[in-house]
Amino acid sequence: MSPEAHETPTEAHAAESPNLDFAGTTPYEDYVQADVLTHLQHLRSDDPGEMVFLVTTQVMELWFTVIVHEWETAAQALRREEIPVAVAALKRSIRELEALNHSWKPLAGLTPAQFNSYRGALGEGSGFQSAMYRRMEFLLGDKSASMLVPHRGAPRVHAELEKALHEPSLYDEVLRLLARRGHAIPAAVLERDLSKRYEPSPEVEAVWTKLYAGDESDELARLGETLTDVAELVWRWRNDHLVATRRAMGSKTGTGGSAGVAWLEKRATKNVFPELWTARSHV
Ligand code: HEM
Repeated sequence: MSPEAHETPTEAHAAESPNLDFAGTTPYEDYVQADVLTHLQHLRSDDPGEMVFLVTTQVMELWFTVIVHEWETAAQALRREEIPVAVAALKRSIRELEALNHSWKPLAGLTPAQFNSYRGALGEGSGFQSAMYRRMEFLLGDKSASMLVPHRGAPRVHAELEKALHEPSLYDEVLRLLARRGHAIPAAVLERDLSKRYEPSPEVEAVWTKLYAGDESDELARLGETLTDVAELVWRWRNDHLVATRRAMGSKTGTGGSAGVAWLEKRATKNVFPELWTARSHV
């Protein structure tokens, strides 16, 4: 029950209503920093539709941040052989990826005329420059040193990305675990240059094939399926982005300077954790 307007804070308290009396900012504000979050919407046009474009982008950045946290937790847990901890983090990330993907809804029907109303105000700004999205890709094994270049002018972001570039990805940790458990992961895969994109290996495919052909309740086979859920939802994000972009701007070039839809199409066809997909043909 909400406190009545005429009640004093003491009376409200007596009726077991929420506290109204705080010496400084509220404990909610101290924890959530809602005042900071809800004043980060610096619009660049007079178009009423720009607000939801900016906030959707900010919401997605927050989900990227949560998901990076989960995948880093999972990677560290795998290193310590704590598979249940890793799986719990991955399962949380699956729910979060679903929420991330649902956040396309407000932008999914954007028309070219609506997008044009504020597109010019974005200048050369593009999601391509999202450092947190790059951290996600690096954790998935999609590494690329050239993706650090746009962030040269931002030391903290650059340092975080550089560290992530040279660290084992989530998939590298999975393959190291498989090797420790006696599966035939080749040395070339285990000792690969971590700063390069993960390239599929026939031997790794054979390991997943064997695991999938065996007992489905096996801990490692179930880990493979959890990773497949992650990969599928990443693929869905990329495709939802592609379709929203196609609807909003057809085949125009992107604000980030790429060929736009044609460039995104190429990126969206790729699957992360490649052998988890190709092994299925051999089971
Ligand atoms: C419907 C509105 C949107 C359009 C038309 C659009 C368009 C584009 C285009 C054309 C690109 C290619 C790079 C370029 O030349 O700019 C791109 C990349 C990207 N956009 Fe969007 N975008 C939209 C919404 C969003 C939102 C809300 C996010 C959330 C953060 C986002 C994140 C990204 C990311 C991460 C990339 C890089 C993808 C990669 O490297 O594979 N985009 N976008």
